[in-house]
Amino acid sequence: MQYPFRIGIITYGDEMKENILEMINQAPLEEPKRQYYFCELAKELVEEKSREAGRKLTFCVVTFGCQMNARDSEKLEGILEYIGYEKSEEEASDFVIYNTCTVRENANLRVYGRLGNLNRLKRKNPHMMIGLCGCMMQEPQVVEKLKKSYRFVNLIFGTHNIYKFAELIVQALAENSMVIDIWKDTDKIVEDLPVDRKYTFKSGVNIMFGCNNFCSYCIVPYVRGRERSRNPRDIIREIESLVKDGVVEIMLLGQNVNSYGKNLEEPVTFAQLLQQIVKIEGLKRVRFMTSHPKDLSEELIAVMAAHPKICNHLHLPLQSGSTEILQKMNRRYTKEQYLTLVDKIRKAVPDISLTTDIIVGFPGETEEDFEETLDVVRKVRYDSAFTFIYSKRTGTPAAVMEHQVSEEVVHERFDRLLKEVQKISREEAGRLEGTCQEVLVEGMNEQDESLVTGRMTNNLLVHFPGTKEMIGTLRQVSLDTCKGFYYMGTER
Ligand code: SAH
Ligand code: SF4
Ligand code: F3S
Repeated sequence: MQYPFRIGIITYGDEMKENILEMINQAPLEEPKRQYYFCELAKELVEEKSREAGRKLTFCVVTFGCQMNARDSEKLEGILEYIGYEKSEEEASDFVIYNTCTVRENANLRVYGRLGNLNRLKRKNPHMMIGLCGCMMQEPQVVEKLKKSYRFVNLIFGTHNIYKFAELIVQALAENSMVIDIWKDTDKIVEDLPVDRKYTFKSGVNIMFGCNNFCSYCIVPYVRGRERSRNPRDIIREIESLVKDGVVEIMLLGQNVNSYGKNLEEPVTFAQLLQQIVKIEGLKRVRFMTSHPKDLSEELIAVMAAHPKICNHLHLPLQSGSTEILQKMNRRYTKEQYLTLVDKIRKAVPDISLTTDIIVGFPGETEEDFEETLDVVRKVRYDSAFTFIYSKRTGTPAAVMEHQVSEEVVHERFDRLLKEVQKISREEAGRLEGTCQEVLVEGMNEQDESLVTGRMTNNLLVHFPGTKEMIGTLRQVSLDTCKGFYYMGTER
């Protein structure tokens, strides 16, 4: 860990500079105390900046990528609000943060594209601070590029030290040059920092960080580090306090929740953790993401079948239906093992909704391999599937594999897969028509203000007549008509 501060204040007077330096030196070392100390310091600096500007300062956090990043962004927002910035949806704000993703090349390119626009905004606003964090920042070549061609960025940090955000803000507000703090890895988990939830009634909860699986195409283990599980006591305590605060649905987050707890001092399985969580009074629904097929245990299937609070939805990434490709992907299951697992799950939880991720065009994928993927899709009949074109990520084993598939062939396969997936999900979506289901109301319908929009336990949306007072409550709704991927209904 590094603590040396490089303070080179130009915008503040000498006296202030000495003051801040001294304050920084006095910071406690223990976490999260240290970060709350920096929050207080940041509050003063923000107040000073706000006085200078003659108005309240605003922030905007833009999130790319997965649920992990979305949850991290809530933590960033929690700190920014705590120190006195006001939330805004506009990128023309005084503190703009891009929380980046690098899982595929296009996620990466989108960030560079938007940075140019931020630079134009910054030229018009002398108070504007720009921060970049998240997975992309863990790649050394990205930081090199930013250092060279994007000098207007104030703060760059990675995935491992996000808990230090308050401290980094103080540094960035006090300095007049780019502050960069990236760690290669960490074994540290800091609890109890401020969080600003996007929804009052539902929340993500991290149960683990990082990934040890090293699927050969995937960059996540390199940018998120080794697998670390949170202590079950901390998880339960967080959920209990969320429930006290009005949360009825939680989504447990991890790159591979099925391997939760293996590296704890006192090992706990994911199924055991779930059993503790469902006991929490007031909590109505539990979801989780993502499940790796190789680690999904019989114990977990039994717990899912036994507990009505556990949602009727399982996201079970397939990636490919070809055993040979799966082996090259280092997924550690075969086509047959995957199909057997699906059978077991369906037997235990007959009406479960299954969704998946599929990659097309992995190096060496032949037409026969691709047909195997289509075969699994037809056999499992997913309720929905995220389909991705294989993207070469420098540093992963697959990037240097032979027989990279040509763009033309990949696109042709991708289109065929998408058609099949969509046809099946349309057919499957209608199967609940005419039934009555429990719906958690999430908000007002965006097109029609006489309707509310809610989510069923299988993750599908339902629109039905209602008012904003219903938001955050569970309702029994008759599903009158299926409209492709959602339903229109009426409350019972
Ligand atoms: N931990 C999760 C996935 C995280 S990444 C899991 O194992 O399921 C989300 C999805 O992105 C993956 O499931 C995969 O389908 C896709 N993905 C990851 N790396 C990719 C790459 N290099 N090219 C294309 N898709 C990729
Ligand atoms: Fe990537 Fe595989 Fe880990 Fe998922 S399990 S994050 S696909 S390496
Ligand atoms: Fe992207 Fe990082 Fe998630 S690379 S998919 S934001 S873990």
